[in-house]
Amino acid sequence: MVGRLNPNVAALTPYKPGKPVDELTRELGLTNIVKLASNENPRGPGERVRQAVHDASRELSRYPDGNGYALKQALAQHLGVDSNQITLGNGSNDVLELAARMAITADAQAVIADHAFVVYSLAVTTCGGTLVRVPAASYGADLDAMRDAVSERTAMVFLANPNNPTGTWVGEDALVRFLDALPEHVWMVLDEAYFEYVEADGYPDGIRLLERYPNLIVTRTFSKIYGLAALRVGYAVSSPYVADLLNRARQPFNVNAVALAAAEAALQDGAYVEESRRLNASGMVQVTQGLTTLGLDFIPSRGNFVTFAVPPSAAAVDVYDALLREGVIVRLIAEYGLPGHLRATVGLPEENARFLEALGRVLS
Ligand SMILES: Cc1ncc(COP(=O)(O)O)c(C=O)c1O
Repeated sequence: MVGRLNPNVAALTPYKPGKPVDELTRELGLTNIVKLASNENPRGPGERVRQAVHDASRELSRYPDGNGYALKQALAQHLGVDSNQITLGNGSNDVLELAARMAITADAQAVIADHAFVVYSLAVTTCGGTLVRVPAASYGADLDAMRDAVSERTAMVFLANPNNPTGTWVGEDALVRFLDALPEHVWMVLDEAYFEYVEADGYPDGIRLLERYPNLIVTRTFSKIYGLAALRVGYAVSSPYVADLLNRARQPFNVNAVALAAAEAALQDGAYVEESRRLNASGMVQVTQGLTTLGLDFIPSRGNFVTFAVPPSAAAVDVYDALLREGVIVRLIAEYGLPGHLRATVGLPEENARFLEALGRVLS
């Protein structure tokens, strides 16, 4: 006998995170594991963050500042926006969910691209909405086709720029054309989790577009280049009107005090971000050259990860398992509609080298 269920929740397929290092140790007894599975920053936190975490740990018996005043002020200054445009979240996943809850009802549709980040479908399905998946073009979002998929019932469009797991991105001209053509009743959630990694001419800064498009919501995170994935801090930047709505729906203390302090410190450490960007750029060259040497196709990526095709003679899941036995964790992405591909995060140079050597052995 079970109680009454919300069918939207019962229908969900749980999010499958990258395998944690400890789990692999438990399962295979391995140590010295390289985790390239969750697009984290492979560097440990910087000194400023460590100090902030240490200082914040003295106040653990107190609730955090539920409004995140200090972090919002710091972000507002850093981003050139007003603090009343910011909504803080327990990771950007949290604000993505808040955005869905703001607009998605049982009769609503949300438009996403094929291979889109999986949390959008979780958030929309939980709210009872229907997903409209639009076929990708060369693995990337086809904005013209997405515009054509928008209807009277569409409440929201989600687009990650660049997208995870494909690393594909849309340029400013295409994005602006899309936003210009979007009906007023449709919200656009632009997920810029990897924004700080991107070095490409014509790559748009969503926050600079907010004044022109009141239906735009931009999300970013401290989990990636800022290296704070464990602490869970992300944020949305939007019109004050939307921020007010998102703030109504969030938990009162959704970002913890240690995370607030660490994020504020991370924001001030520009050198850490710069070094992380540089390390990722050279690591991306190392990994993609290595994949090319192994004769493997990959999807050119602007994030801190790359998705590559497993040769037809092998199954992606077997290559994944064999890499695990080599102590290397990458990511299966069948649930993203890419059953013949694997995704690897760009790590430290020695981690990338271990991954490429192990992959070479596994495929030979
Ligand atoms: C495209 C994209 N958006 C959002 C997130 C969520 O990150 P977080 O909740 O850690 O901010 C991720 C994490 O992998 C991502 O790849």
